[in-house]
Amino acid sequence: MTPTSRQIALLKAAVFVLALVPLAQMVYLTLAGALVEPLQYITRATGDWTLYFLCITLAVTPLRRLSKWNWLLKLRRMLGLYAFFYGLLHFTTFLWFDHFFDVAEMLKDVAKRPFILVGFIAFVLLIPLAATSTNGMIKRLGGKNWQWLHRLIYVIAPLGVLHFWWMKAAKNDLAQPALFTALVAILLLMRVWWARQKAKAPARA
Ligand code: HEM
Repeated sequence: MTPTSRQIALLKAAVFVLALVPLAQMVYLTLAGALVEPLQYITRATGDWTLYFLCITLAVTPLRRLSKWNWLLKLRRMLGLYAFFYGLLHFTTFLWFDHFFDVAEMLKDVAKRPFILVGFIAFVLLIPLAATSTNGMIKRLGGKNWQWLHRLIYVIAPLGVLHFWWMKAAKNDLAQPALFTALVAILLLMRVWWARQKAKAPARA
């Protein structure tokens, strides 16, 4: 079944609103004074949601291929932009509320917790993807170049997982990072497998 353009528009609106629920929850809990350590909670929640949206965005193509629901592609740009949005909130929390833009303090923190640098690299790599997400930029870059650039997500997601893994390794709490490592590995390996099948196809014909 292919949804009508009206149904797609409704679905997009629903996803747009749902993706803001974690932010609304963070704002509510902070303003209600319900958090014992608001800074830590917000840093972690925004980090978690950045990783969730990266994984959800990476899952769109495999899900589309397996289900043949091509309309799923229409949600991909928004999901990717939400990964950037929560990444920006996560970075801003670190920069502003944790370190008050004090570069020396930030560098000291990075020296103490090098996993932050990995997160920073992942975030910097997300910027060109967000900046080129418009139809105008796809036209300007050309489809092929745009596609190549957006393959950066294959580097960004593993870096995000490494950042998470490294942080949790210090606490000997690797259950969740292991789960995300497996998820990202499966989502990437499915692409490798499909690419190899495609490369083999003409030889078989
Ligand atoms: C794509 C980029 C990023 C992803 C996917 C990401 C993801 C995460 C995740 C999942 C956590 C753990 C949350 C938890 O414990 O539940 C985390 C923690 C953290 N991240 Fe990131 N992050 C990214 C970028 C950054 C950047 C740019 C910075 C700062 C420059 C940063 C600084 C931190 C810090 C300081 C923590 C530890 C918070 C604590 O100890 O309470 N991250 N991040």
